Amino acid sequence: MLLGPPGAGKGTQASILARELRVPHLSTGDLLRAAVAAETPLGREAEGHIRAGRLVPDELVLGIVRERLAEPDARDGFLLDGFPRTIAQADALDRLTPIDVVVYFQVPTARLIERLAGRRICPKCQSVYNVRSRPPKIADRCDRDGTELVQRPDDRPGAVATRLQVYEEQTAPLLEFYRRRGWLRSIDADGPPDAVTARLRAELGPTVASGSVATRSSSAPVHRSPSQ
Ligand code: AP5
Repeated sequence: MLLGPPGAGKGTQASILARELRVPHLSTGDLLRAAVAAETPLGREAEGHIRAGRLVPDELVLGIVRERLAEPDARDGFLLDGFPRTIAQADALDRLTPIDVVVYFQVPTARLIERLAGRRICPKCQSVYNVRSRPPKIADRCDRDGTELVQRPDDRPGAVATRLQVYEEQTAPLLEFYRRRGWLRSIDADGPPDAVTARLRAELGPTVASGSVATRSSSAPVHRSPSQ
C-alpha cells in the first residue's frame, strides 16, 4: 500500500512498481475517474465530490474496491494507491484482505502544490505528465496518441487546498494506525522520480528486486489504466 498526500508521487511510483512486481495497480482515484468518464451511476454520484476535492463517501469507494479485489488478476497480490483514506476504509480493508507493507511518501507541502499545479493528463489514455518534471515531447500533446493534454479539475488551486486539508484531517491518522501495527515504512519522496524509485526499491528490498522486469526512464510518461 502506498500512502501519502495528494501529489506525493504515489501513482507515478505505483505504476512502475506494479509492473516490476507483476501485480495490478489498484488506484481508487483512477477507478473513480473512469466511472465519471463512463457516466455510471457511481460516477455521477462521485463527480461533485472529486471536483471539489472532497472524499467520495466510504460506502461507494468500498464497493469498487471489493469488486476490483475480486477480479482474478488480484488473487496473487496487488498494489493499493489512494486507498484506504479514512480509518473506516482501513477497518473495512482489514476485513477484506491482508496487507504486507505500507509505504508512506514524505514530501514537503510546497512541493506537493508545485507538482499538482504542473500535472497534465491525457484524457484519452490517462498518461500522466508534468510541465516541469515530465513534459511531453510536443507541448500540450500526449506522446502516445497526440491528444491535447488537460488539467485535472481537482488540480485547480481551490480544490488542491481542500484536498490537502482533507488529507490532514482524514487520511494522515492512518499513519499512526499502521505504525502501531508495525507495518509502516517511510521514504523521502522528494527529488527526481528515478531517485524516489530507487529509495522505494531499497526500502522494499528483495521483494522488488526478485520481481524486477524493467527500469523506466523518468522522461517517459506514466500510463495509468484503471484496468491495470
Ligand atoms: P487520487 O487520484 O487518488 O488523488 P490523490 O491521492 O490526491 O493523489 P494524486 O493522484 O493527486 O497524486 P499522486 O500521489 O498519485 O501523484 P502523481 O504520481 O500523480 O484521488 C482523486 C480524488 O478521488 C480524491 O480527491 C477523492 O475525491 C477521490 N478518491 C480517491 N480515492 C478515494 C478514497 N479511497 N476514498 C474517498 N475518495 C477517494 O504525481 C503528481 C504530479 O507530480 C504528476 O504530474 C507527476 O508527473 C509529478 N511527479 C511525480 N513524482 C515526481 C517527482 N519525484 N518529482 C517531480 N515530479 C513528480
